[in-house]
Amino acid sequence: MSESRWAPVNPFVPDGRILVIGASSGIGLAAAAMAYRAGASVVGVARGEANLARSFAAIGGPDTARLLPIAADVRDPAGLESIFTRAGTVDHVLLTAGFAATGPTRTTPWSALAPAYTDRLATAYAVAQRAAPALAPGGSLVFTSGGFAVRPAADTSVVAAGLAALETFVRGLALELAPRNRVNAIRPGRIDTPMLRGALARSAAGPVDDDSVSAAGRSIPLGRVGKADEAAHAALFLMANTYITGVTLGVDGGKSLL
Ligand SMILES: NC(=O)c1ccc[n+]([C@@H]2O[C@H](COP(=O)([O-])OP(=O)(O)OC[C@H]3O[C@@H](n4cnc5c(N)ncnc54)[C@H](OP(=O)(O)O)[C@@H]3O)[C@@H](O)[C@H]2O)c1
Repeated sequence: MSESRWAPVNPFVPDGRILVIGASSGIGLAAAAMAYRAGASVVGVARGEANLARSFAAIGGPDTARLLPIAADVRDPAGLESIFTRAGTVDHVLLTAGFAATGPTRTTPWSALAPAYTDRLATAYAVAQRAAPALAPGGSLVFTSGGFAVRPAADTSVVAAGLAALETFVRGLALELAPRNRVNAIRPGRIDTPMLRGALARSAAGPVDDDSVSAAGRSIPLGRVGKADEAAHAALFLMANTYITGVTLGVDGGKSLL
């Protein structure tokens, strides 16, 4: 048989240099680890330096040549600048860092909820603006939405609106950056991360254990909450597939079907 036209690439995991903003925990950490294990070089960002160092040591062990941790706040303009200056040219950027706040519209002051709308969009906007010139041809941006964008719950009106706005932003930006680069998002449902456990603890007003996490997954069609790896894999798939742009991919065990 003559040489195959099928390129010897992994269709599910990207290679090259990947910048993960939100890399010390949850979905971002899982994405950083998965990309690293697949051979990519990973730049990871979080505010907490010690936690990020611990997380990256766990990913890479003694071989840290392909791992660059950067302690910075992506919401701070100087922090954003330092991230991209140190990262240099990157093939893909994943933004998982995000701010959420909930409360009833009738009684919560706008100032308490506004960041859940404005910061989600403003951070994505700032990252896109700074990332666009740093992206290699064929590279992509992946943002993080959330299930409330399509299935809000009571008291989530503002954070839901922010997530929906982000998804619309992704579609518009995808047109702007095409054909050189692609723009997509993941839309996690309930994923077992420190963020989810924190939210469950707040609503239960008490400590959360594995049983409470299992209980939180019972009403989901697949019968459980998702793993950080499962959400991370969706993000890496969107980077790796070279013909998907402007898409928000749900990773929610079927929750949005209900
Ligand atoms: N887990 C879920 O069930 C779920 C559901 C729907 C949507 N989501 C969305 O998915 C995304 C990731 O969630 P997760 O559960 O993986 O959260 P997580 O476990 O809390 O991880 C968040 C990561 O982002 C970093 N981070 C937060 N703010 C930052 C900032 N301003 N600058 C730089 N890094 C920052 C955190 O480190 P530092 O705190 O040290 O900065 C941490 O590494 C979020 O946008 C969330 O809204 C999650």
